[in-house]
Formats: sequence, structure tokens, C-alpha cells
Amino acid sequence: MEIRVADETEFGRVVDLIHRSWASRVDHRSSGHRFTEAELRQIVKEGAVVLVAVEADRVWGSATVVPAGDMAEIAKVVVDPSAFGSGLGDSLMNAAHDAAVAIGFDNALLGVSLFQPELVRWYARFGYVVEVMRTYSHASPLSPAPIVMTRRASTEPASVPASDPIGIAVAAITHGQLVGLPTETVYGLAADATNPMAVRSVFAAKGRPLDHPLIVHIASKRSLDHWTVHSDDAHRLADAFWPGPLTMVLPRQTHVLDEVTGGRDTVAVRVPRHPLALGLIALLGPTGGVVAPSANPFGGVSPTTPDHVRADGLAHIVIDGGPTTIGVESTIVELMDGDVQILRPGAITAQQIEAVLARSVSPVSTGPSRAPGMLESHYAPKAGVKVVADASEITQRGNDVGYLGPGSLSDVVSLNAPSPYTASALATVLYARLREADDLGLRLLYVVSPPAGDLLSAVADRLTRAAHEP
Ligand code: TXA
Ligand code: MG
Repeated sequence: MEIRVADETEFGRVVDLIHRSWASRVDHRSSGHRFTEAELRQIVKEGAVVLVAVEADRVWGSATVVPAGDMAEIAKVVVDPSAFGSGLGDSLMNAAHDAAVAIGFDNALLGVSLFQPELVRWYARFGYVVEVMRTYSHASPLSPAPIVMTRRASTEPASVPASDPIGIAVAAITHGQLVGLPTETVYGLAADATNPMAVRSVFAAKGRPLDHPLIVHIASKRSLDHWTVHSDDAHRLADAFWPGPLTMVLPRQTHVLDEVTGGRDTVAVRVPRHPLALGLIALLGPTGGVVAPSANPFGGVSPTTPDHVRADGLAHIVIDGGPTTIGVESTIVELMDGDVQILRPGAITAQQIEAVLARSVSPVSTGPSRAPGMLESHYAPKAGVKVVADASEITQRGNDVGYLGPGSLSDVVSLNAPSPYTASALATVLYARLREADDLGLRLLYVVSPPAGDLLSAVADRLTRAAHEP
């Protein structure tokens, strides 16, 4: 691996290439932060090695190497990628490592300005441990919470770079990246709710129309008044159901981004009931929050396991919180001018809300929903879905026809169903089975409607939309 130090002219050219390459990477969900030449020079002045691989007019990646303790060393390194062959990302990191060693940084800190999980794993092989460093002198405004890898004194391999999944996720979020976030309902595609670029990249990743607003996920009721205009009803519902599967649509505070609300004067908020989600959001501070639509492409089936999120491929990193417990999205209730209406049924029922507010709640409106984005065809697998009362209604059979209901049937592909077959048990596995139907290449899936239960209206709602032919 050859490393040479760039001269002034070359440095100027590199800055220019970084600009052009990063500008074009906004589409690829990078943080979109464009360093100015002055900023880059400042980084270098403070003792960083800026490492970039340059090929023709493309910049493939960059890393910084900073001597621990002593920020005086000034070096600039340009690496020639023609020496790398394939696997440029690894090679670049290899070069960063070599550079640190060559320059004689002992206990060097290696900072990666654009966080990438592969880099963390790669460095782990060399015994680096990952930390989120908040006191780094370059931290602001270049990178609010850079990922920093510290070389261990011992050469033992660091086994789990993900030992601090929350720290890594916080860094990713503050870099404008998209994080697969476990909640009790479904996995979200989380992004910094205060970063317009990050929020826009959520829409781009999902292929979601811009006027379908997002839910802001906050850490506790204490943040409610930061995002929404105070309402006694909202506080009562928050006390009763948060953290939990209830989203409230309320008048927004003016600072809430139009990107989040789709330009509406209301904003949807909820506190998810999952320790990893709450841990992440809490680290964003009292005014922090993440938007988190379900982490599936627009119109598709929501993810309920980390594998689903990885299969859909929209998140830069996925926090593994295991399978979700409820399995269908939160109840959405709109509180406007004293009027209370359910916009989307979920695990919190209208009756539970009525009991807390001691007044009646308008049921879910039928027909075109008032929650923009609640389309008639939604949560839809490729397979056709037919909802039946029981197995006697099944008219088609074959190895491309599936059955999800109590027991198993012959001459169809019986999917694993919960027993007893209740609405809440079905909710837990419903999305996983809809995905399985596609994985098996089924043409048609019969789903038996579950008996009454708390989650019946939520499950029935999702089944209707899954069954609706666009
Ligand atoms: O359980 C959940 O709520 C999951 C998890 C990840 O938290 N999230 C989720 O987000 O289901 P999403 O984006 O897939 O659904 C959000 C729904 C949309 O139907 C949207 O129209 C509605 O919330 N919504 C958001 N803001 C709104 C607003 N200001 N007024 C009316 N509806 C709103
Ligand atoms: Mg969704």
C-alpha cells in the first residue's frame, strides 16, 4: 500500500472532487453535509489526515486519522485507488490504518466522518473499539457526534463493535442517516426529525409521496409541548398510554419542519414502548425526536423483525431489538378543537380512549381516510389476499395457494398460524406471514378472520387494505 502526501495543488483538487462527489451522493442518503474548503483545511490544521481515494473524477470515500493527545501533526494523504482492485472501502480503511502506523500515531484515534457500519466492523479486526465521541474538537459544525475508533493497547480483537448499538445509532442519526428502529408495533425507518435533509431522504428511500406526513417519535411526555400545542386531553392520553402504541395528531409548534408534517398545521407524535428506541431518542436531548415510518417501501408490508428491515434494504443500520411484540402499527387519534377521532385503529382501542377522556370518540372514518397516506391498498404483499370467515369459503387450491387460519388444510400451503387463533396473536405474526407468502411465491393467500378481541379492528383494517386490489 503506497501512501503519498498531497501537495497544495492536489489538495485543492481533492476538495473539489469531494464537493462534487458528495453533492451527487445526496441521492444515496448520505448526510448531505458538504464540507467547504475552509472546513476541510481546518480539519487538517487541527491535525487530521484526510484520506480520500480518487479515481478519475470520483471520490470513493474518506477517513480521518487524528493523533490522540497531540493535534499538532499535519498531514494530508491521497491514496491511489488503482492499487486497490476491488473492495475499495476496505482498502481505504486499510490505508488509513497504514497511515496511522506510518506516521507513528500511537493510540491513534481514527474518526470516520461519514458513518458506515462496515467500517466499524473492519476496524474491529484490528482491535479498535468504537465510541461516540462528543468532545472531539472537530465535532461542530462538521460532524455533531463523530464515530471514533480508539486503538486498544492490547492487540486482542475487539469482538463486538456493536457493543454500544445505541451510541452507533445516535451517531448515524445525527449524521442524517436512516436507522432501522425497533418499536413495540413495527420497525421504523428512523431519521432526525429536526434535519430536513434526513427527513427528505426517508421519503426518497421509501418512495413515499411527500404529502404523507410522518410520526415524530419522542422520548417522553415531557417533550410533548415542544412539538405540539398543549391540550389537556393529550396529556391525559399520554399519561394513560405512553410509552405505548398510541399516536396523537395535534396542532403543531411552528418550528416543526414542513417536511415532517407535509405542510399541515398538525403533527403526529408518539412515545414508543421499546427500551432501545427510547434510549436512542433520549440521547438526542429534550428537543430531539425521530421520524419513523414503517421501514418498508411505500405500500408494502411493514417489517416486524430485523431481518425484514434488512431484506427491505432502506436502513443504513438496523438496531436488533428482536421481533416486535404487537405486530401492527399504532392507533392514530386526532385531537382537534375538542373533537376526538380515530384515524387508524391499533392496539389501543376507541373504548380505552373513551374511558380515559370520559367522552365519546368518533370511530374510524370509512372511505377515504383523513390520515393522508392511509390508502385503500396498503400493507399489500404481491400475493393476492382473500379474507374468509372460515375454511369452508375456500374455493381455490394448489401449491401456489396459501392458507392462514386455525389448523392446517390439505391441497393448499398452510402457513404457521397462532394457536389459539386470536386477533392479538394473529397481529403479532400477520406481516411476517404476508412476507412469507411472497417468499414462497404464492399467488393467493386465504386469511381467516380472527374472532373478536382487542386487536380485531386493527387486524381487520390491515387485512382489508392488504386484500384491496389497487
Ligand atoms: O406504529 C407506528 O406508528 C409505526 C412505528 C414505526 O412507530 N409507524 C408508522 O408510521 O406506522 P407510518 O409513517 O407508516 O404511518 C404514519 C401515519 C400515516 O398514515 C400518516 O398519514 C399519519 O400517520 N399521519 C402522520 N402525521 C399526520 C397528521 N399530521 N395528520 C394526520 N395523519 C398523520
Ligand atoms: Mg407504513
